[in-house]
Formats: sequence, structure tokens, C-alpha cells
Amino acid sequence: MEASIGVFDSGVGGLTVAREIIRQLPSENVIYFGDTARVPYGSKSKQTVLKYSKQIVRFLNTKNVKAIVIACNTASALALDEIAAESKIPVIGVVRPGARMAVECTETKNIGVIATDATIKSGIYTDYIRSLDKEVTVVGKACPLFVPLVEEGLLEDRITDDMVDRYLSEIKAYNVDALVLGCTHYPLLANPIKRYMGNKVTLVNPAYETAKELKTLLRENNMLNINNTPKYEFYVSDGIDKFKSFADKVLPVNVTAVNVVDIESY
Ligand code: DGL
Repeated sequence: MEASIGVFDSGVGGLTVAREIIRQLPSENVIYFGDTARVPYGSKSKQTVLKYSKQIVRFLNTKNVKAIVIACNTASALALDEIAAESKIPVIGVVRPGARMAVECTETKNIGVIATDATIKSGIYTDYIRSLDKEVTVVGKACPLFVPLVEEGLLEDRITDDMVDRYLSEIKAYNVDALVLGCTHYPLLANPIKRYMGNKVTLVNPAYETAKELKTLLRENNMLNINNTPKYEFYVSDGIDKFKSFADKVLPVNVTAVNVVDIESY
């Protein structure tokens, strides 16, 4: 059997990226690690996120993965460059694919980015978008309460609508026509966000673009699996039951086994 794709996130959010990988690369084996014991990363320092990410990469490498997807915007923002520079296998993140798509979508040249505090503070989306098109204005907004709302399953709820209004009113005032959902949890709030922003605003889900980029990368390097019955493995640092019930709602496949890893030992 061909080597797997390693996918990791600070917790369950990266399952929205795994879902796209499973859909677009149906012959690939996937090993997913969710750092459920140490989530959230979005409020932590670069040093801490880098340390955690390196431990996870060491764990995934023990599984002989052939490529790694950092399915977490915060870890992509704060750790991707260093990890990719040290890695013998290809490593991609979710920020650049999402930013590229937003630049392709915008006509008004006003792009909104919503993400965790750490991702917004890193300025990575703004820098990368403006390196692609200097005429674009980027409005960023951290929406920290979206993550717990998703984790509590409040995808359609009055409280969620209130928070969407509160966080996005500023962005709406900028006449953006593309809004990057720059945090793995936010695609699960696409409905309330779309309702609030209106039909003229394209919601950019970096997960979709990341899976596309992964496919191109594997094809170009002759690493693509063809006609393989895929195998999916799930690992977490804590809370198997909560992870499993979330994964069953998000993924198009049955999550049969989830294992706990002592990630601090890597
Ligand atoms: N996975 C994180 C991200 O995409 C969101 C959750 C967290 O703060 O760890 O930025």
C-alpha cells in the first residue's frame, strides 16, 4: 500500500480540510492528527505553536507519510516556513492556497479575512495577498468566539447570528466581494456568514484550494495513488469520543478507530 498523506490541526477544525482531501483524492490514504489536548492554537505564541507543530510532524514521520498538510491556519501562519525548510517530504499549508483564490475572485479589490487572533496578528494573509496584487485592500478581523460556537455545535443558532453580526459588521462596511474563511472551523459557519454578507460576497474556503494544490503537487512528483482503496487513520492528544462524534458529522466516511497519542513525548 502506498504511503499516506499526513494531515494535522490543533483539533477537529482540520477535518474540514481532510474532508476536501478525501473528496478530491479518493485513492489517497490519510493519517489525521488533531491536537485536541492543546487546542486552541489561535491564542498562543509563535514559539508555542512552532513547538507543538514540530512534535506533530515528528509523530507523522514515524508513520512514514509521503507529504504533510498543515490543516490549521494558525500553524500554517506561524510554523509552515520553518517546518517546510527542515522537511525531507513536501509540506503545504492552507494560507497561500486560500489567499490565491481570494485574489482570483475579487473585482472590487477589497478582500476580507477572518481568522484567529494569532493568524490576523501575523499579517500573513495581508502580506501574501498584497504580494500577488498590490492594488488589493485587505480587511482582517479576528473572530475568536467562532471556534467554541462550532465546537458546541451551534451552527444555526441565534447566538451565532449575533456573533456574526458583531464580528463582520466592520468588514461588511468595506464593500468586500471576497471573504476568506481563514480558520478551519469557519467553513462550518458558511450558512450564517453567507446570510449576513449577502450573495455578492464570495466565501473562500482555503480547504478546497489546499486539496487542489495537494493533488497538483502529488501529480507533479509522481506520488499520486491511483485505484487504491483508501485507509483513514485518526489520532488525537485527548478526548476520543468528542472527536469521533464531530468527525462523523463532518467527514463523508465512517470514523471507525481513533487513537490517543502522547504528543508531548515526540
Ligand atoms: N485550527 C485553528 C485555525 O485554523 C483554529 C482553532 C485554534 O485556535 O486552534 O486557525
